[in-house]
Amino acid sequence: MMVVELIERKRDGGRITPAEWRELMARYAAGEVPDYQLSALTMAVFFRGMDDEETVALTAAMLESGKRLDLDHLAVPRVDKHSTGGVGDKVSIPLAPMIAACGVAVPMMSGRGLGHTGGTLDKLESIPGFNTRLTLDAAAKQVERIGCALIGQTAEIAPADRRLYALRDATATVEAIPLIAASIMSKKLAEGLTGLVLDVKSGAGAFIPSLDRAITLARTMIALGQRYGCETVTLITDMDQPLGVACGNAIEVLESIEVLKGGGPADLREVTFALGAEMLLVAKVESTRAAARARLERSITSGAALAKFQEIVVAQGGPAGFVDAPERHLAAAPVRAVFEAPHGGVVQRVEPRIIGRAITALGGGRTKVEDTIDASVGFLVHARPGAPVRAGDPLVTILARDEAGVAQAREALTRAISIGDAPAARRPLVSHRVTAGGLEELAVGGAS
Ligand code: URA
Repeated sequence: MMVVELIERKRDGGRITPAEWRELMARYAAGEVPDYQLSALTMAVFFRGMDDEETVALTAAMLESGKRLDLDHLAVPRVDKHSTGGVGDKVSIPLAPMIAACGVAVPMMSGRGLGHTGGTLDKLESIPGFNTRLTLDAAAKQVERIGCALIGQTAEIAPADRRLYALRDATATVEAIPLIAASIMSKKLAEGLTGLVLDVKSGAGAFIPSLDRAITLARTMIALGQRYGCETVTLITDMDQPLGVACGNAIEVLESIEVLKGGGPADLREVTFALGAEMLLVAKVESTRAAARARLERSITSGAALAKFQEIVVAQGGPAGFVDAPERHLAAAPVRAVFEAPHGGVVQRVEPRIIGRAITALGGGRTKVEDTIDASVGFLVHARPGAPVRAGDPLVTILARDEAGVAQAREALTRAISIGDAPAARRPLVSHRVTAGGLEELAVGGAS
């Protein structure tokens, strides 16, 4: 195979055949094709696109470049949820144990924070001893034993994607819908799922801000799921403002535990329950949304979901009794300061990208994959778009390492939060449901 010929063909608007994608990805995963050729090819894909058959072929090629979690022998359905990421999005942490407590297996594979978005793995690793680097074998055994494992993409899963995604990140070729769809689905399909729920965010803090493109991405991933017999459903949810109050690693774990204890911010609870209901529906353990939500409620009120989370924490190396007093185990930031409303009015915007980047500047996020992060820093964003405020009202609590961090954070918050005379239009929290059958408008919560 002459890789340069494939690049030329794609550059000129042609197609790459399934056999060529398969060979290319196998050789790339084996280190036999240089990054510079793949970066030229992905840039050509970025401009020329790929048709459905090519997208399926690339997904299959990346999936086949690695191993799969073998859970076919389990008698229970296996489902996962994947989010395209955002600021304050800690939904996976309460959701996985809630679903497992409902008798559905959850082999959940999450990512790390990069750029302005946070990552579930980083949040979980703020729990002392919590090991997200399980081998596939260990993860499979844990799912068999306690119904859930919370892991990262191991070197065994879709290694071609692992290498290609890092390359795309460094060559401005992430935002191509067929590449995103193939990347996400090659990893999800490797989990041996019977069902998958996707949370595709849209809005200013989303990876793909435009609603139309978010829906196109959802449709592409749903079609890939169907091909593999994995029923896939998508909710389009809002990322025009941070989700919940806590934005930062350790404080997001605390807020997740509040949800598991029956509390937590209303928007976070709503998105968690909406996604959870879809998971129970694709798992076919409930047949209506109302029944699915009632079952999720019972997982909380009975204490089963909280107990399941504790079980997962211990299974993955974390402390006994963690959920009873999580703040005792999590790192606390040395400096706390309050950012107050400079004048009265109505909160119009809380810009998630600025908040996310400010967390990184405080030391709580990464600019390079190898960066280490400080789990203790972040923001408690009390300001909600649409809420009236008076001058001096607390808008945000800043959690920082030092006063220099506080000063930097204040500057970012001044840009992130706008207060005006009247509320600005807001998107619904959960705007659409996309399935193989079509698009449904939901308009749940938030809109004004
Ligand atoms: N997440 C992924 O795993 N892959 C992408 O391409 C984008 C987001």
